[in-house]
Amino acid sequence: MKKMSVHQLAVDVMNQTPITIIDVRSTEQYDNWKIDKDPISVVHIPITSLTSDKAHVQDELLEKKVLVVGMNEADSKQAAGEVEDHLSIECFFLAGGINEWHDYVEPIKVGTLSDGGEIYQFVRLGKGCLSYMVISQAMALVVDPIANIQPYLDFAEDNGFTIAHVVDTHLHGDHISGASMIADEMEVTYYISSIDAQGAEIPYESLTPHSFIEVGNTNIPVEVIATPGHTQGSISLLIDEHYLLMGDTMFADGVGRPTIEKDGESVIHQLYETLYSRLRHLPEDCMTFPAHFSHLSDLNTEGFFGGALKELISSNSLLQKNAKNEFIQSINTNIEEEPTSHQAIRNANLGLSHPDEKERMSLELGPNRCSITES
Ligand SMILES: [Fe+2]
Repeated sequence: MKKMSVHQLAVDVMNQTPITIIDVRSTEQYDNWKIDKDPISVVHIPITSLTSDKAHVQDELLEKKVLVVGMNEADSKQAAGEVEDHLSIECFFLAGGINEWHDYVEPIKVGTLSDGGEIYQFVRLGKGCLSYMVISQAMALVVDPIANIQPYLDFAEDNGFTIAHVVDTHLHGDHISGASMIADEMEVTYYISSIDAQGAEIPYESLTPHSFIEVGNTNIPVEVIATPGHTQGSISLLIDEHYLLMGDTMFADGVGRPTIEKDGESVIHQLYETLYSRLRHLPEDCMTFPAHFSHLSDLNTEGFFGGALKELISSNSLLQKNAKNEFIQSINTNIEEEPTSHQAIRNANLGLSHPDEKERMSLELGPNRCSITES
């Protein structure tokens, strides 16, 4: 059996290489969250029933590259050995298992700035989180980083960039933010809206609508735009008048879930204003990048997600309502109960609790649930 790195799996996923994953975790772990099926085939055979369930593995699936995944590397390797013995096929096992895949990010260039600078999207393939690095004259602004901050630090160091600022577009509820950790490590400012950061026990600088963040000493304008609705303090960043990093305001086929524990009703109204008024006043051809994607199939052939604002709006059924009450009715019909882990994650992001690595993984496990889609 051979070892496959999470990077190689990312390359295979983005290249749409035919691959069959045999997931040997327990049914509970598998049901809670699994590697997205499209464009790869996934077969679930708990390790405890590997021998008896082998008939469930269809022959045609096994004509592809076969990858065995367990929770960690040891599980994956042991199961791969058993798969090879019982099914008489050659297979790979995933280095680091699901745990490592869950945290893996792949940086992909998504735009060029007017001074020759660049924007990278850091695609967290396993969880659907999208974060960003805006680079201008070797200075970098990091937006919505995940808790595994090493890839951002490595990317900056490997390419000779200095991280100058770090921003969260809102107080995240679905994943632990790496923003204050990067700020600590690099001794730079962490920016977030003071509305979302109310009660925070970590240092931050408040973002004010219509203010600008400077990326180093450059002339690239990074304008702060208030886009409340997912949270009351949500902001978007309009970079170089052409790239819009919009946090959890809008997705490929959904919109940001109004956070209900504050003042749910007014947040829904704010969400409507943001989606139906504020966004419509921005340049309609600006390239728009959210903080999440839902399915691997949302990613384009270059491996990233994003598109012109007018196209994302026109392809999103929740943005085609004729009246405000229709929109609100659809949100209320389609909103699902918020996972209980979200409040614990928000507390951690405010610095009110300090989950260790194992607790973080368990809080974050599961798909992105920041989005509401219309069924
Ligand atoms: Fe969110």
